[in-house]
Amino acid sequence: MKWMIVEKAEELAQVTYQLLKNEIERQDGNLTIGLATGSSPLGVYEEWRKDSLDCSNVTTVNLDEYIGLSPEHPQSYHTFMKTHLFDAVTFKQSYLPIGDTDDANQESERYERLVRELGVDLQLLGIGSNGHIAFNEPGTSFDATTHVTELTESTREANQRFFDQLEDVPSHAITMGLSTIMEAKKILLVASSARKAEAVRDMMEGPATIDCPATILQRHADVMIVLDEEAASLLSEEAKRTGRAAYENFK
Ligand code: F6R
Repeated sequence: MKWMIVEKAEELAQVTYQLLKNEIERQDGNLTIGLATGSSPLGVYEEWRKDSLDCSNVTTVNLDEYIGLSPEHPQSYHTFMKTHLFDAVTFKQSYLPIGDTDDANQESERYERLVRELGVDLQLLGIGSNGHIAFNEPGTSFDATTHVTELTESTREANQRFFDQLEDVPSHAITMGLSTIMEAKKILLVASSARKAEAVRDMMEGPATIDCPATILQRHADVMIVLDEEAASLLSEEAKRTGRAAYENFK
């Protein structure tokens, strides 16, 4: 794992977008990028919208979608992506799991095949405060492929801010599995705020365990983690020094 610790919160999105852009340019725009929703990538998408990068050959594939919400639903991840990125940046093709399906297991299988056929070159990730990545909650097998998952209460509560009330937050989602995510050639994870500090410490310094799904990333050959000081606050002093130095070098 490699990591950078930025000085100011606003630099987090700029650095993460720059890394993503470097990869798009390195591959002449012919690549597949895995995308995430939630607060973590919001600043990155803002940077992307402001830029005039040609993404007409870039394919995108999202990590997850709530079950029971149609693509047009205001809180669906389809709508989130449209609002924050797809309306402003033209991609070759963009995929998300279909949440309003009669057979979510079949949709999961279809999506797993699709993701593997596309082959993800770079996967953008956030991390939940309980260590989840995508919607792989604690206890999920490291071997899991795209599947239907029940969201934990803490995840539903964390995501309530996007809904009117807790009861409106769907209980289930279709999510890429941990083994699906591990197939990505490169992984770029972004985390900010003290809310993520414990999960970040466990992911980077704890033992690899299904109790903290993000620890699987320790086994990936090409992971870059971009942190602000608050998210990095529980890391060892040595890890903090390394992360700050990596950022100085990058600047
Ligand atoms: C979203 C996703 C989730 C989020 C995580 C963090 O597609 O896969 O794993 O990345 O819940 O959420 P935020 O960024 O809102 O703190």
